[in-house]
Amino acid sequence: MDKLVIQGPTKLKGEVVISGAKNAAVAILPATLLINGVCRIENLPNISDVRTYCKILETLGAKIKWFSDNEIEIDTRDIGCTQAPLDMTSKFRASYYILGSLLGRCGAAEVGIPGGCNLGARPIDQHIKAFEALGAKVDVSQGKISAKVKKLLGNSIYMDVVSVGATINAILASVLAEGTTTIDNAAKEPHIVDVANFLNTMGADIRGAGTDLIKINGVKELRGNCTYSVVPDQIEAGTFMLAAIASRGDILIKNCIPEHLDCITAKILEIGGNVEDYGDSIRVTMNKRPNKATVKTLPYPGYPTDLQPQIGVVFSIADGTSIINESIWESRFQYTAELNKMGAKITPQGKTAIFEGVKELTGAPVYATDLRAGAALIIAGIIADGETQLYNLEHIDRGYENIEEKFRNLGAKIQRVSEN
Ligand code: EPZ
Repeated sequence: MDKLVIQGPTKLKGEVVISGAKNAAVAILPATLLINGVCRIENLPNISDVRTYCKILETLGAKIKWFSDNEIEIDTRDIGCTQAPLDMTSKFRASYYILGSLLGRCGAAEVGIPGGCNLGARPIDQHIKAFEALGAKVDVSQGKISAKVKKLLGNSIYMDVVSVGATINAILASVLAEGTTTIDNAAKEPHIVDVANFLNTMGADIRGAGTDLIKINGVKELRGNCTYSVVPDQIEAGTFMLAAIASRGDILIKNCIPEHLDCITAKILEIGGNVEDYGDSIRVTMNKRPNKATVKTLPYPGYPTDLQPQIGVVFSIADGTSIINESIWESRFQYTAELNKMGAKITPQGKTAIFEGVKELTGAPVYATDLRAGAALIIAGIIADGETQLYNLEHIDRGYENIEEKFRNLGAKIQRVSEN
């Protein structure tokens, strides 16, 4: 079992290049199942979720050529199997996109009930509602979800809950359906726009992605024969913005889309940081102790829940008492117990947590409880006085490419050490 050993405190300074977005990549890869052709995908993040997904697609009949760690050519002309391997699909949450894609392509699909970060209940009722609205029969039993349909017919779908996954799955299932589908109260995250852009590049007819009303005119076939580059990762960029603030550093974040980060920028300015927007990069500097503030996580363009633990680290050393209200997930404050081991004074109360800012954290052995908590604990180790050992790195490796190398290039004293 590996661990990260981090010596602090360090002020992070320098440049970091953002990778392709995990939450776009894990939807674009299954979306290739809709294509009766070959396509090329660039700027894939080199993370375990992408590698796992590629293995799943190969079991379904896809042929994949790797040109680098971040670029593949995928041939999905011969998709024969509609049952994804349950042991692999139950490893992570995004495996449920196979349902929408295979339903669209073959009229049948079966995957393991999705796993992923332990954030509390992660229902899929809105996904099922979307598939049934298009005429599919869905069964959830014996640890798997299966869906089948004779002919998908376009329909109007109103999402009872703003859901990234359900919005993407509804798009995937309706791209090849007969007629027009509308998705109302849709999620608007940048990765949803990226999936729609990818599918349109391959021949789909999707309009309104990024708004709360998306319209899909079904087409007969997607031919592919195109190349697509995955959008830069909004959450990775935000992670490094908050690392600059927590460490009182100066980081130039390259290959990002600043308007995807407007909410984080606004919060950083509120707590006393500085942000300079250069169009395709953003510079974040901080030269004092952060002011206290309040954050409520919301669907895009609100403050992203996937940047909640990271600003929790900033609040743990801010001047005064800050509050975070986690409105998306019922259990996303597990990381606060780990920060309290490092001297923070945080009191989680259900979907709210109170952060009494302390002057400094101290290094300690801590455990990543999920992907974003892991990234937050790296930042905590960098700003803490002394040595921090961070365990459960498999969470972090699912969603951040070469994270310790990127932090080391910013001056962090961080090493990955094998325990055995
Ligand atoms: C996606 O998860 C992301 N994962 C999550 O990021 C992210 O936290 C989340 O969106 C919110 O932005 C991927 O994209 C792979 P949702 P998803 O459906 O799609 C409720 C990370 O760190 N809901 O938008 O599973 C649900 O309980 C991960 O990269 C239903 O009630 O999230 C939650 O309260 C962690 N019924 C809310 O909607 C449903 O059928 C938002 O969930 C679906 C969701």
